[in-house]
Amino acid sequence: MKEYSSPVNLLNLSIYKQNFLKYDKIFEKYGIKNTIFFARKANKCKSFVLAAKEAGFGVDTASLNEIKDCVAAGINPDKITVTAAVKTPELLEYVVAHQIPVILDNRDECELLHQILVRENKTLQVGFRLSGFWHDGEKLYSRFGFDVDEIVDFISTNVSESGRYKRFIYHGLHFHLNGYSMEQRINGLSQSLDVADGLAQFGLKTSFIDMGGGILMNYLSHSSEWDAFHKELKQSIQPGKEEITVHKDLLGMINVEGKLIGEPKVYPYFNETYQDKFVEKILIGEKDGVPLYSHLAERDIELRIEPGRSMLDQVGITIAQVAFRKRDSEGRLLVGLEMNRTQMFSSSADFLLDPIFLPLKPEEESPCEVYFVGAYCLEQEFLLKRKITLDQLPQIGDLVCFVNTAGYMMHFYESEAHLFDLAQNLIVEKNKMWEAIPDWKYWASHT
Ligand SMILES: Cc1ncc(COP(=O)(O)O)c(C=O)c1O
Repeated sequence: MKEYSSPVNLLNLSIYKQNFLKYDKIFEKYGIKNTIFFARKANKCKSFVLAAKEAGFGVDTASLNEIKDCVAAGINPDKITVTAAVKTPELLEYVVAHQIPVILDNRDECELLHQILVRENKTLQVGFRLSGFWHDGEKLYSRFGFDVDEIVDFISTNVSESGRYKRFIYHGLHFHLNGYSMEQRINGLSQSLDVADGLAQFGLKTSFIDMGGGILMNYLSHSSEWDAFHKELKQSIQPGKEEITVHKDLLGMINVEGKLIGEPKVYPYFNETYQDKFVEKILIGEKDGVPLYSHLAERDIELRIEPGRSMLDQVGITIAQVAFRKRDSEGRLLVGLEMNRTQMFSSSADFLLDPIFLPLKPEEESPCEVYFVGAYCLEQEFLLKRKITLDQLPQIGDLVCFVNTAGYMMHFYESEAHLFDLAQNLIVEKNKMWEAIPDWKYWASHT
């Protein structure tokens, strides 16, 4: 804290590599050709790019700067995938110059790439993002990609010797589904195989199918924690019940005259089937009575995945220092931390992991219930909406450690409002002893 100030993010690259190995092993078990791309958007630290190169896996990039980092780290083009939602002319010129394959999302993107390829007199390997898969008799909504029912026609018409996009070298198919449904991914993969078969009739070989990210991870030890939380949250609206979230916040549920509508809009923090086991369930999912892994092998199609959050399971923590204690106007005990809400924030309505409290002077237990608040000038600047029970009253300078924050929590929404410095990101490594090296320094010393 003295050296880097509060808060700091600590990241452990060896756990990240272990997470990669879990996926690698499951593909090996089923003899599936594969490439694993870390979805860099889940954490901005450059050291993850270096570690991917070192361990031999790829990186999924969402912007020109992310692509440039891969090139600077010496990652081969076949281990970089470009799924950026907006591909500027500069980005496409760069990937053409470096011959980095790109995943195309829409017709305008195709047209822009086509113009660049004509101008540069080059070709480029491309994949097409698919969406609109059929699931339970309905089409899955997405704002991304080409419609699964129209793509065979589009590619076969345009990506051919006589087609407009003859400079595109068709390489494969891609999808990334919102949410975490295993069945939807089984359907997505299955329908992508149909597209591959359709294209094969036009002599177009699908080399890969990339099923994106959204691979579940697990944050909790027991399902009972998860169930108890939901039960208590729902019961907290009853008159006379104490709040368990600030102002009885329902985390996205709606209270209509005492009846709760919907479910909390939070990440599914407890899962029995997660990471490699989640992927395995998809692999053994069936299409026409045959497991998907056999379909892939039969057609010699490589399976790709782009895990972000789940590659960062147990990779990082965020530590902040206690600045003050006070009561709000309704008597809640607030503990102010030297950090702001954007430094530990995701699209989940609350981060449902209990922090670890690290008092400088542990004392005999005298529990207290607190809310952690941050440095932005908003009434809603509660770092966690949940009330947290601590063993003793925090003192100024005590530390609070938020666990498992590497996936999205650290950087996805971080901002510099009020001109606060961004948190330092430190790579922790055990050499002779534990060392903490700033991410930028780690990068600079390895590139
Ligand atoms: C195209 C694409 N791939 C991969 C990911 C990573 O998803 P996750 O972090 O859930 O694994 C995302 C996340 O938004 C994405 O948009």
